[in-house]
Amino acid sequence: MKLHGSLNIRGNDLFIGDIKLHDVAKEFKTPCYIMDENLIRDNISRFKKSFGENNVIVYAGKTFLNSYMVKLLKSENMYLDVVSSGELFIAHSNGFNMENIVFHGSNKTPEEIKMGIEFSVGRFVCDSLEEITLIEKFSKELNKKMKIFLRINPGIDAHTHEYIKTACIDSKFGISKDLNKIISILDKYKDNENIEIIGLHSHIGSQIFSKEAFIDEVDEMIYLLKEIKTKREDINLLELNLGGGFGIYYTEEDSPTSIEEQVGSIVDRVKYNCEKFNMKIPKLYIEPGRSIVGNAGTTLYEIGVIKEISGIRNYVSVDGGMTDNIRPALYDAKYECLIVNKASFERNYKCTISGKCCESGDVIVKDALIQEPRRGDILGVFSTGAYCHSMSSNYNKLLKIPIIFFKDNELKLTTRRETLEDLIKLDIL
Ligand code: LLP
Repeated sequence: MKLHGSLNIRGNDLFIGDIKLHDVAKEFKTPCYIMDENLIRDNISRFKKSFGENNVIVYAGKTFLNSYMVKLLKSENMYLDVVSSGELFIAHSNGFNMENIVFHGSNKTPEEIKMGIEFSVGRFVCDSLEEITLIEKFSKELNKKMKIFLRINPGIDAHTHEYIKTACIDSKFGISKDLNKIISILDKYKDNENIEIIGLHSHIGSQIFSKEAFIDEVDEMIYLLKEIKTKREDINLLELNLGGGFGIYYTEEDSPTSIEEQVGSIVDRVKYNCEKFNMKIPKLYIEPGRSIVGNAGTTLYEIGVIKEISGIRNYVSVDGGMTDNIRPALYDAKYECLIVNKASFERNYKCTISGKCCESGDVIVKDALIQEPRRGDILGVFSTGAYCHSMSSNYNKLLKIPIIFFKDNELKLTTRRETLEDLIKLDIL
């Protein structure tokens, strides 16, 4: 078991900084997410340092986003990857610099494209010629010139969960790595008044541990840039975006490489390839999400019903579940957890932590080892900062849960809990 960032055990209790998590649960009620801002900022600074000043770190907003997070990113002068008008709206309404937006999405609607152009986002990432055609049309109408990354599917099989692979041949993402096709797109938009294809993009998947997969990606993409240069000397692709996907620790089964090592090996490999082909090094972008916020999140639940089925399994039910963390049900994702008010007690009670939804698959941790549980104890589940809040739902009409940020021993409620009234506010009779 690993405690990340500001989490620490003193006496019987688990603390974040100097604050008892049990007191956080009392003050804000359960379930709730707590985000360790110090750890998030620390991760951002490690990425920046190891990637180099001229290169760009783009935080993947789909991982976790609320208004406070946008402000945090703004204060760090970060770039932000958005994939919908919703994410773009949150960024825009919080004064995020639109030049620092990278607008993704393999099937943006015409309305989303128009919104991106009206806001003058820094870059679009395009997965299809169809979309470039639309961007050109609307940019012309609005008298703008938009920068575009062409998203390429480099055909790399990153060893991760089937649902979060993105660069196998059989994928909806990106333009297949077909040189003639790519060149025909580049030719078509060369010297265009409303479109500038500034570089290439690729993203091979998520929760990837293998340095080799990223190295293969770099090799493929630089080779492609070189092939394009050989065929079209007058086309200058100045930027290369290598996506995100760096794996993190959830349980002892995971052995991630450090941020410094992952990023360092990418930068070194780009240099190596560019020297080999006698090419100018492109400006590099990466798009980490999970590796910035994943370990910074903890979810607190209150334990309710305990059901012991002799010789089979003990079920410990909590007051949230697949509505605030769908990942175990969807990907068989694993988490570590403990009872925060008994943190130093021996963990010798084997059980399945189940949620309160009407689904047998509503499990948060299967075969967990926790301290002897009692109704009313507070359970902390760790590393829930990535893809939990952002994938949450109102299934069974459960209320979405609040987000509390921890910074320098202070707590700040940044998204309130939904209310019952919120559940009917969109209904029309
Ligand atoms: N860039 C692109 C184009 C992406 O599609 C993604 C994630 C990222 C960057 C950030 O990847 P990260 O560094 O967070 O691995 N819901 C799944 C993960 C889906 C990832 C989607 N794309 C999960 O809960 O594991």
